[in-house]
Amino acid sequence: MSSFRPFTINKIRLLVNYYLSLLFYKSKIMSSLYYALFSRSFHREHQAVLEGKIKHIRDIYWNKNNYYLVIRNIHRIEKGLLMRPRKEIFGKNYIKETIDCYEKIILSHHENLNDQVKWFHDVLDMYFNVVGYDEVIDREKQRFLNLQNTYKTDTENRKKHIPYNRLLKEKNLVSLDSFFALSKQRRSVRWFTEEKVPRKLIDKCIEVASQSPSACNRQPFTFYIIDDKNILNKVVDLPMGTTGYAHNIPVFIVVVGNLNAYFDERDRHLIYIDASLASMSFMLALETTGLSSCPINWPDIEKREMKLQKVLNLNNYQRPIMCMAVGYPDPKGLVASSEKKSLDKIRIYYPEDL
Ligand SMILES: Cc1cc2nc3c(=O)[nH]c(=O)nc-3n(C[C@H](O)[C@H](O)[C@H](O)COP(=O)(O)O)c2cc1C
Repeated sequence: MSSFRPFTINKIRLLVNYYLSLLFYKSKIMSSLYYALFSRSFHREHQAVLEGKIKHIRDIYWNKNNYYLVIRNIHRIEKGLLMRPRKEIFGKNYIKETIDCYEKIILSHHENLNDQVKWFHDVLDMYFNVVGYDEVIDREKQRFLNLQNTYKTDTENRKKHIPYNRLLKEKNLVSLDSFFALSKQRRSVRWFTEEKVPRKLIDKCIEVASQSPSACNRQPFTFYIIDDKNILNKVVDLPMGTTGYAHNIPVFIVVVGNLNAYFDERDRHLIYIDASLASMSFMLALETTGLSSCPINWPDIEKREMKLQKVLNLNNYQRPIMCMAVGYPDPKGLVASSEKKSLDKIRIYYPEDL
């Protein structure tokens, strides 16, 4: 008997797609044409990146109020301060835009400066004290000093947020074995009890997450925590990967990336890296409190994104990165053991022998 089976519509679609891709993939222009003509897959991303860029640039030059820019520039200055050897003149190209935006932040903070704004202040203070003389820098220094009269920094009685020497004794705060054990304890949990999750615990774990590295320290993400059943029901099925266990998720989190953090397309991928690094720390922190989690894929499907955007009131330049289910693990629910690849499958040394 012949083994011929008729193509299903899906198979035909897949094959047409395959041959079209084959036709267009060989040059960059043809690839762009393919996505312009046959696929909407990148439309949403293109628009979000452009809109983020516009907002970023407008905030710098029109509104003179761009928090991401100040963070990035303070980070660049702090790196300049710790360089060996330190340059006589540095930061000159961006000190004016930094002080422009810093001024707006300071004038809107008035009394209590949070630690990050104190960091801005302390790094600028150190910078203007050590940088060599230059007319442009000196003009900005005067603006900075004038600003200092408008707020209290209590610099005398507190630790300054400036580059410091790393103490060796900080090295063994957590042993490798206990960290390994914690990492093994974390497994994707999909069955939860009905016990209420205290917001205080979630907040503490997000504070842990916020200690994660991010490019230029910008932290271009926001954790949206949904613990209200009515709202949760509107979004919990949107990512698709929650099928079968959505109904028992007590807290649903959407990690959102903010593309207005960048002035250039070259950095568009950083929202995914930075948010994922923070999410991993968040999930590990949850485990230390007795809570568990399951990361959930956010598929790039425009219709679903528009629905989520509406519920969470997101801007076009904000993109969901991933979702998470969080709650107390149900001891009666099964957890996939998800054995990991062996070391030799995920690690290559160059050179192999030393
Ligand atoms: C980016 C990402 C997307 C995921 N998406 C889903 C999902 O949609 N649904 C789900 O049940 N699990 C999802 N998971 C969980 C994975 O299935 C799980 O991490 C993997 O099987 C390894 O198991 P472990 O987390 O217990 O180590 C996702 C994990 C990651 C990191």
